[in-house]
Amino acid sequence: MKVVITGAAGQIAYSLIPFLCEKGVFNSDERLDLNLVEIPQAMGRLDGFVKELEDSAYSTVNSINTFDNIQNAVVDADWCLLVGSIPRGIVLNGKEIKERSDLLQINGGIFTEQGKAIGTSAKENCKILVVGNPANTNALIGKHSSNNNSQLWMAMTMLDALRAKAQLSQKLNCHVDDIYRLAIFGNHSPTMFPDLENTLVNGKNAYEEINDHEWVETEFLPKIQQRGAEIIKARGASSASSAARAACDTVKAVEHPTRSGDVFNAAVMSDGAYGMPEGIFSGFPLISNGDGSVEIVRDYNLSPFAKAGLEKTANELLEEKDLVKDLI
Ligand code: NAD
Ligand code: LMR
Repeated sequence: MKVVITGAAGQIAYSLIPFLCEKGVFNSDERLDLNLVEIPQAMGRLDGFVKELEDSAYSTVNSINTFDNIQNAVVDADWCLLVGSIPRGIVLNGKEIKERSDLLQINGGIFTEQGKAIGTSAKENCKILVVGNPANTNALIGKHSSNNNSQLWMAMTMLDALRAKAQLSQKLNCHVDDIYRLAIFGNHSPTMFPDLENTLVNGKNAYEEINDHEWVETEFLPKIQQRGAEIIKARGASSASSAARAACDTVKAVEHPTRSGDVFNAAVMSDGAYGMPEGIFSGFPLISNGDGSVEIVRDYNLSPFAKAGLEKTANELLEEKDLVKDLI
């Protein structure tokens, strides 16, 4: 099983790769060939990390290979985890990068090149998870550049779902595993819409159990929408351990059948479901069949409040798409 990870010397990858090497992540007994990709300037740092991975003596691993170019790394790849890119919070040309969308011009180009290489050389059933921000629109650029419709492109919204589950479990004093059908709609950005109206907790409707729309609208939603910024402010760097956990959980969610009655979260190319415009990457509730295919779950009831939230995030995704029209 060939797994490509870009940005392999970065902070997310430092947690992600050990998670991926744990048993049971992939639905196959085949050992992993890890193809780790970095920019030339970071190859020394990557070599140091590779020594640590070797010293971990993972029984799941067959080989660890390093690359300073995407083209050779993705040949026959089963999975590509596209983490490599610049995070917000840094200062570039004297200006602080404040929003994920400010990264479009910087990171967009990376995904053109990577998309082309994946479309040409990775396996026809390759699964691609874009983590690098702005993840939805980077995935759009990557998929378009790949010119290959048989591969599955996704952008990560699992972290938003985990954040929402953590907040909800505190509010309702339940275990995160008791939460079903929590969905993140739209962009991985402050406009995302985490829906509680279709969420179940121990079989009961979460929104009705909370019974406090004010809390949902003025506390819960902004907390999830701004959690990334809250973490950057507190730790001086963007989330890494939790982002790695979420990326690994996304791989697991695709590789294994979804538990009965539940969903998992990722952004995929919209086909118009829930009124999200076709041709953008939007977060949706998904199920996996465990054979590499995923489907959008289409039975959520959206209230006027939810519909307004979806419209806002759809408009932002359309604006981002317009900003990169030269790349797609
Ligand atoms: P980081 O700066 O620690 O690491 C990024 C690494 O990518 C660096 O080592 C850099 O050399 C490498 N890189 C840059 N361009 C590359 C390229 N063309 N090919 C291969 N490698 C390349 O950053 P990080 O904290 O690991 O975050 C990575 C990205 O993930 C950022 O864009 C961040 O905003 C994003 N992120 C997304 C989510 C999400 O939920 N979708 C969550 C957290 C972070
Ligand atoms: C996050 O949500 O933590 C990441 O997307 C990093 C960021 O820029 O907020």
